[in-house]
Amino acid sequence: MSVEQDRETRRRRTFAIISHPDAGKTTLTEKLLLYGGAIATAGAVKSRKADRSARSDFMEMEQQRGISVSTAVMSFEYNNVAMNLLDTPGHNDFSEDTYRTLTAVDAVLMVIDSTKGVESQTKKLLEVCRLKRTPVITMMNKLDLEGMEPLDLVDNLEKELGMACVPMTWPIGKGREFKGVFDLRRNEVHFYTSSLHHKKNDVETIDLHSERAAQLLGANEVSRLREDVHMLQELTPAMDQSRFNGGQITPVFFGSALNNFGVDSVLNMICDIAPPPGPRETTTRIIEPDEENFTGFVFKIQANMDRNHRDRMAFIRICSGVFTRGMTLHHVRTGKDTIIRNAITFLARNRNLVETAYPGDIIGIPNHGTIRIGDTFTQGEKLQITGIPSFAPELFRRARLKDPLKAKALSKGLEQVCEEGAAQLFRPISGSDYIIGALGELQFQVIASRLENEYRVNADFETIPRNVCRWIIGDDATKKQIIDRYAYDLFMDGSGNLCILADNLFRCNQIADKFPEVTLARTMEQL
Ligand code: G4P
Repeated sequence: MSVEQDRETRRRRTFAIISHPDAGKTTLTEKLLLYGGAIATAGAVKSRKADRSARSDFMEMEQQRGISVSTAVMSFEYNNVAMNLLDTPGHNDFSEDTYRTLTAVDAVLMVIDSTKGVESQTKKLLEVCRLKRTPVITMMNKLDLEGMEPLDLVDNLEKELGMACVPMTWPIGKGREFKGVFDLRRNEVHFYTSSLHHKKNDVETIDLHSERAAQLLGANEVSRLREDVHMLQELTPAMDQSRFNGGQITPVFFGSALNNFGVDSVLNMICDIAPPPGPRETTTRIIEPDEENFTGFVFKIQANMDRNHRDRMAFIRICSGVFTRGMTLHHVRTGKDTIIRNAITFLARNRNLVETAYPGDIIGIPNHGTIRIGDTFTQGEKLQITGIPSFAPELFRRARLKDPLKAKALSKGLEQVCEEGAAQLFRPISGSDYIIGALGELQFQVIASRLENEYRVNADFETIPRNVCRWIIGDDATKKQIIDRYAYDLFMDGSGNLCILADNLFRCNQIADKFPEVTLARTMEQL
């Protein structure tokens, strides 16, 4: 490893923001970019909001992709730290995409709406973080609104998410009475002023014991705050780096993304304690980021980044080594070597050809469908990075073609759209139907629209009596016996893995009871 590789790896922070829709993820993303100097004024990312609103907006957004949105990763510099902020879709129906993005980050910033506390989507996403022991930094947002009491918020988070909270700042009032926060690390007050939208908030910072504090807060508020601070210092656990790294404790900040308040504290925390790229598990060994040879895996595929080309962009998270333009990468699944000259990075909102990229960075490789989610790239070593699952879909539809002459285009369209990972394609063991499985209803609408626009295929999706999916993991002989007996309920997924798509869980349990030597899995690693 070169000194440069070491230095560059250490200064990288690759993270994502998770939240329940409407908690303020889009707003905070924008403010982080503003503070990181990646955008000059806020408002630029706002079009992204379409992905959680009405269907028509979503379609519109899909159609305009490549022109406006499609920033799966946003990279920017802050205090000499290279930040890679990975985007996660806001809409619940795209949660699978979000789960997979979480496999590519080293830390997570969790935004909670302080008027609501922990909400359902946050719980689900945090479960994934816990499985992966991803460190989590928390921001309680919307302190400018009349929300829950700060102690109740902390209590709610600890109970709902099972993590100990370590407040880093503490709010002084809330709603109309919101006056600022006390920074418990630096022992100073950050005074709040509303700074809507567009520019950084120059926060006034003063000592709690100063005249100015008494003047601005009033003597009563100062003495109450002193008591609060004393109590917090007694009650809260220390900010232990290893417990944070293991996802057992989370530092908590209070602020208002809309008013640019508390944003810099969160960014500083990411610089200070979020871990740089760490080791990765593979099927054969652990990869360390400081290894000389390149390794990386694909966590996302996105089509329509450029309307003029049918290309799809494969997003690769670099795990070790240094990527340099023109290097030859080994695509482990296909066994092919390719010279990569056109990889792209995403500095701010611009796409640039990558000259050099380090562990923690995300590079985009345009391709015509040869690359799939979960694929590993190396410099020749035959290993497979693990931990990039597919989740069992919960909704199933049969694709029905309106024009029978378009069967080939339908098959191609469905295969390609599903390879991007938002939905899964299943073919019955006996029969020729195309069954699409997804985690959200919106997927079917998006697929129908894309089939029409990109493949000129008119298809609709009809409901079928299948509600549960489980992959069958076991030896070939047993699988054959299962096929002989339960063919009606058996399907192949897009990668040729055998699975059950059943009407109900009872059916799956029946098969599991009959064949205890196989495992019925809810998640599948596409190896
Ligand atoms: P999301 O991506 O998590 O779904 O949330 P988003 O940032 O879009 O924010 C949801 C709503 O909450 C937006 O209002 C946004 O302006 C507001 N918001 C975000 N942070 C704060 C905050 O700190 N304080 C207050 N008071 N509001 C906040 P909207 O009315 O839905 O949209 P818009 O009209 O403001 O664009």
